[in-house]
Amino acid sequence: MNINQIKDDCRKNLNKYAVEAFLKIPTLKLPLILDAGCGTGVPALALIEHTDGVIYAVDNDAECISWFRNKTSENKLNDKIIIIKDSILKPSLFDFKFDIILAEGLLNATGFQKGIQALLNNSKNGGFLIIHDELRDDPFKKRYFRDNHLSLIHEIKLDENIWLNEYFLCLENKLKMYENNIAKKELSSIENQKNNAENLKSIYYILRNHY
Ligand SMILES: C[S@@+](CC[C@H](N)C(=O)[O-])C[C@H]1O[C@@H](n2cnc3c(N)ncnc32)[C@H](O)[C@@H]1O
Repeated sequence: MNINQIKDDCRKNLNKYAVEAFLKIPTLKLPLILDAGCGTGVPALALIEHTDGVIYAVDNDAECISWFRNKTSENKLNDKIIIIKDSILKPSLFDFKFDIILAEGLLNATGFQKGIQALLNNSKNGGFLIIHDELRDDPFKKRYFRDNHLSLIHEIKLDENIWLNEYFLCLENKLKMYENNIAKKELSSIENQKNNAENLKSIYYILRNHY
């Protein structure tokens, strides 16, 4: 059983929402794109098909990065997706700024305000951001965007049924075929998520940086 492969296969079911969010941004010629908290790169591998730009994908988890690197090599995408194992919170990580920044699930780990400031630090004036975050505290977040010169171009909400039917059910069906401890642990964590399904609601904010 390869748990990374199983999670990737189910995570791909949600790619259509990332692509929908990406296509809300005007088409840019050869954009520099940052995927902050790229994980195993499922969204980056989907978005690279919709741009002639280059994606810099950053994550501080060594295992995710190693798995992602194998996939980009296999797909001969090494010159289109540059993978970096580091923290996005490091102020001097890049000496240039990005046209588009994607952050799916990052802000949960970094904290909302700290994460946004790190993203802004890497964003061009006039650049775009796609932030996928839990729906909780939506009014506060929208106020914070306004106060930080970020205008909301569009939003896409994913309700709990999307997460349950398109992601967790897929995982459950694949994991049930195994009897080992990893599968049992993952299945028990899914059960917890299902019992708190209200918390699964999430939102893509598509923003423009006017600073
Ligand atoms: C919920 S996962 C999302 C992964 C991927 N974006 C996706 O949507 O499939 C959040 C990722 O953020 C990464 N992360 C957390 N803190 C980070 C930091 N300070 N710098 C870079 N990556 C970070 C984690 O390692 C994890 O892979």
